[in-house]
Amino acid sequence: MHTEHLIVDPAAPEPGLIERGAAVLRSGGLVAFPTETVYGLGANALDSRAVARIFEAKGRPATNPIIVHVAGAEAARSVVADWPEIAARLAEAFWPGPLTLVLPRQPEVPDIVTAGGPTVAVRVPAHPVALALVRAAGVPVAAPSANPSSRLSPTRAEHVLRGLSGRIEMLLDGGATPGGIESTVLDLTCSPPRLLRPGLLAAADIESVIGEVAGAPAASGAGPLRSPGLLTRHYAPRARLLIVEGDASPSAAQLAGEGKRVAVLALRTACEGDWTVVQMPASPVEYGAALYATLHDLDEARYDAVVVEAPPDAPEWVAILDRLRRGAAEG
Ligand code: TXA
Ligand code: MG
Repeated sequence: MHTEHLIVDPAAPEPGLIERGAAVLRSGGLVAFPTETVYGLGANALDSRAVARIFEAKGRPATNPIIVHVAGAEAARSVVADWPEIAARLAEAFWPGPLTLVLPRQPEVPDIVTAGGPTVAVRVPAHPVALALVRAAGVPVAAPSANPSSRLSPTRAEHVLRGLSGRIEMLLDGGATPGGIESTVLDLTCSPPRLLRPGLLAAADIESVIGEVAGAPAASGAGPLRSPGLLTRHYAPRARLLIVEGDASPSAAQLAGEGKRVAVLALRTACEGDWTVVQMPASPVEYGAALYATLHDLDEARYDAVVVEAPPDAPEWVAILDRLRRGAAEG
């Protein structure tokens, strides 16, 4: 299959190009598109054969449900069976934006989208291309990140093509995605609501609207490390990822001594040695925006190991720490 590559204006997407993407979605095809977080791989969420093709293209296990993208709260209500007052308040405060809400599903949502479960995850993306595409499609759009399963999420069109070229009908190329880290996933089927995945929207912002959220980091810090044994390898580069507290050079030196090509993602110190130092931004927003692209570049350059100077154990770094730890997890 030839993957059509259309370059769109990320701020003011051309209606003709968006309509071509929407037509592919309506006819059961797959379209990759930029969101404010990472690139998504979309299919008509109400067409189980189209959604099955997402699982095939990504090599995604059927047990992993997919987020449904809609154009607004009204459309979200049509895929969920219950719209509690708390959902309305969150939608009002944060949609369009990087917040995914898990709610009881409507029976019309195919099993393949929810992995057979009783809930569905929905969000309204803020990126002009994503929003225009979902609107033009006129159907809810199921879209996981546009990468082979368990690998790094794509933040640039070239990352999508590297992983999925020839497996999808179309790529809407809107340049680099601004956020760089996936949406925050919040389960509203329990009380208090539970944070299922930290993401671009900080838990503290959610708590400022609805009060206590289970699983959110305490204000004083990110809390204890979850057992690395519980972290399945995910969001992972090809290179081995190693997170170190303090000075990265002893670990880097040891790996370099074993003949490995080593890069260090530096934050504070950046000791020179037989390795490449990549100075990362000190602000969590910029670090998050750069992280996946940096790891994609190091993979392309065939590095064997990436030693990461651990970011601070603080709430604004929680989503980044989560992704780094999953990328570093074994197996
Ligand atoms: O920022 C994002 O969320 C991006 C863009 C494309 O929207 N999407 C994304 O999708 O990261 P994906 O499939 O890579 O990650 C979705 C996460 C998975 O961890 C999945 O298990 C969880 O959301 N999820 C989806 N539906 C769920 C449900 N019904 N209940 C609980 N978790 C769900
Ligand atoms: Mg993903």
